[in-house]
Amino acid sequence: MWSLLSSVWLLAAGISGATAQFNNPEGVDIWCGKAYRAKDAPFSPGGGFEEPTYSAAPLLRLLAKPRMTIYVASDSKASLLVDAGISHLLGEPIASKYAGESKGSFASEAKVVIKSGNSILATSAVQVGSTGNEIAFSLRSLAASTAPYNLTVTAKLVNGAVYTTSTALYHLPKPEDSRTVSRIDNLYGGLWYQRSTETKWTPFFPYTYYGKFFLLQWTLYWNSNVSTLDEFAAMGYNLIHIVPTGSLGESPFPWDEFQPYLDRASELGIFFQYDVIYTPTNNATMLDQVTQLRSHPSILLWYQSDEPDGKSWPLSANGLARQAMWDLDPYHPSSLALNCYDFYYAEYGQGGEVIISDVYPISTNTSWSTVYETPCNATYGCCGCDDCHGAFEDISERIDENERRDGLLGWQKTQWAAPQAFGNETFWTRYPTAAEEVVMALLAVNHGAKGLVAWDFPTTGELSGITEKLAAVMTSSKIASFLLEQPLTQTLTVTGGSRVDASLWVDADANEALLTVINLNYGDIAAAVQVALPSGIQATAVKDVLWGDVNWALSGQRWSSKGSVLTSSSGLLGLQVSMVVLKLH
Ligand SMILES: *[C@@H]1O[C@H](CO)[C@@H](O)[C@H](O)[C@H]1NC(C)=O
Ligand SMILES: *[C@@H]1O[C@H](CO)[C@@H](O)[C@H](O)[C@H]1NC(C)=O
Ligand SMILES: *[C@@H]1O[C@H](CO)[C@@H](O)[C@H](O)[C@H]1NC(C)=O
Ligand SMILES: *[C@@H]1O[C@H](CO)[C@@H](O)[C@H](O)[C@H]1NC(C)=O
Ligand SMILES: *[C@@H]1O[C@H](CO)[C@@H](O)[C@H](O)[C@H]1NC(C)=O
Ligand SMILES: *[C@@H]1O[C@H](CO)[C@@H](O)[C@H](O)[C@H]1NC(C)=O
Repeated sequence: MWSLLSSVWLLAAGISGATAQFNNPEGVDIWCGKAYRAKDAPFSPGGGFEEPTYSAAPLLRLLAKPRMTIYVASDSKASLLVDAGISHLLGEPIASKYAGESKGSFASEAKVVIKSGNSILATSAVQVGSTGNEIAFSLRSLAASTAPYNLTVTAKLVNGAVYTTSTALYHLPKPEDSRTVSRIDNLYGGLWYQRSTETKWTPFFPYTYYGKFFLLQWTLYWNSNVSTLDEFAAMGYNLIHIVPTGSLGESPFPWDEFQPYLDRASELGIFFQYDVIYTPTNNATMLDQVTQLRSHPSILLWYQSDEPDGKSWPLSANGLARQAMWDLDPYHPSSLALNCYDFYYAEYGQGGEVIISDVYPISTNTSWSTVYETPCNATYGCCGCDDCHGAFEDISERIDENERRDGLLGWQKTQWAAPQAFGNETFWTRYPTAAEEVVMALLAVNHGAKGLVAWDFPTTGELSGITEKLAAVMTSSKIASFLLEQPLTQTLTVTGGSRVDASLWVDADANEALLTVINLNYGDIAAAVQVALPSGIQATAVKDVLWGDVNWALSGQRWSSKGSVLTSSSGLLGLQVSMVVLKLH
């Protein structure tokens, strides 16, 4: 992800390529749209997310998208996620009596019909004001094809008013080669894959590092012996991110030398997030890589580009490149890292279905750039963490904000995060500690991150040690069954201390829940800390401790409509993290 290093070089060399294509005057270098050199004056960077205008009258927002980004020939069923939400921002006018201010007696049903052409695939009734209704249908009548089906969705209210939307559904032929096929779940955000010989899909929570190692040292390390891959896999990471050309510059990758790595990876069961190093001035390399590699079983997804927003690439570049990749290979999602807090998110985000935020708040001065000797604020400066406050919450606020925008845009995205695992350079005076690393990683997960790719490897022994331990937890199928298959309730009510972040994933079928509680304070909380589960969620025991050694006591009435309360009577130590599986009634 982001080439902290290479980006700083770019910045220093002034070749960010941003010559007055945005609000910057000719010759003024920008990062996230902002002037950052002391010689340059601040100006408004523009590019802020365009908020929809407020409508005093309530609106019905009918929205439909496929549950999964793609289906393949071996899938017999598909489903659409249909929203019939009431909004004051987006949608079509709705008579207020259907708006159901609360879930009161005014709330009403809408009859939903899903059609392909003239044929009806499914009908259903959804509550006006509800979102995320999953409506399933058979794929039998939709022959597998590389072209999408344009499904129309109508919702009819009891007063006869009809609302209409449409969405593209992909039902692709099963590839005839040995590739691994992967897709994103638009309900819970997880990545699911299927090996060529399989017809069942497996959820996958990626936990790994970016490799500066790989980027700079392909010829010094990786190509020395394919056993380097065994070493990395043995540390417990399930994905590998390798920059193909690295020290080879722009020359094509030596495929013959690389082939044994791809082959060994599939033997080891580790996947590639493959960096196609797309740039707006060079799409040939990217197209070449996708063509060469798409059919290899080790390729799980493409990494399209690194901080195009920071580098202020042309606004249409990433979306066009994503389309070109899709045309060659619709069987793998694309990811990209976005570094800016608020610079053309809707445009750069078109580069992939997976958006990785790289927010590095540890040990950088977020108000004064120690590299460029300028202030940093919303319109000026580069401090290594855009619009940050230098706190852990920079990470969760970024993900929350990206998710808020995703909701408004109504598009199909998932959020991953790049925890900071570097330091002692440029803006950052030191490395994070092991405790900080765990807080950063799990805070992102608590706020919906469905993958973690830390920047960067190799790191300190302290960080390697802790991430190996965390890898054992995060790559387990148990974790995937919660994080990728159950709804997330974030920001549970916590009493006894402030800045304690708690999230819950309830698996109603298994009668279990995953709870993660994080003390974001460096100092201890001495008073008893209580975490309240959502109403109706009654836990009977801590079944399994996945991380930490907080001693939770449970209280709550079996027949109460309130949720149970977990109490740590000795409070929480500074940066303490607890991840437990609860047994439910
Ligand atoms: C899909 O069909 C609807 C009409 O049902 C139409 O308005 C829309 O433009 C079509 N979308 C595409 C991509 O063809
Ligand atoms: C590669 O590594 C393996 C395992 O460490 C070792 O047995 C083998 O001799 C190495 N090969 C070369 C060419 O260095
Ligand atoms: C690749 O870039 C060239 C030159 O900029 C452009 O003409 C072409 O349309 C691009 N092709 C694709 C598939 O993006
Ligand atoms: C950031 O740098 C400014 C200017 O040198 C200094 O006044 C401030 O205390 C620093 N903040 C932190 C958190 O180090
Ligand atoms: C950012 O800092 C610059 C330089 O001190 C100042 O001119 C500008 O007004 C500041 N912008 C904001 C939004 O505070
Ligand atoms: C920090 O970086 C400097 C300069 O590269 C190096 O000399 C020093 O050993 C590093 N310190 C640590 C703790 O990594």
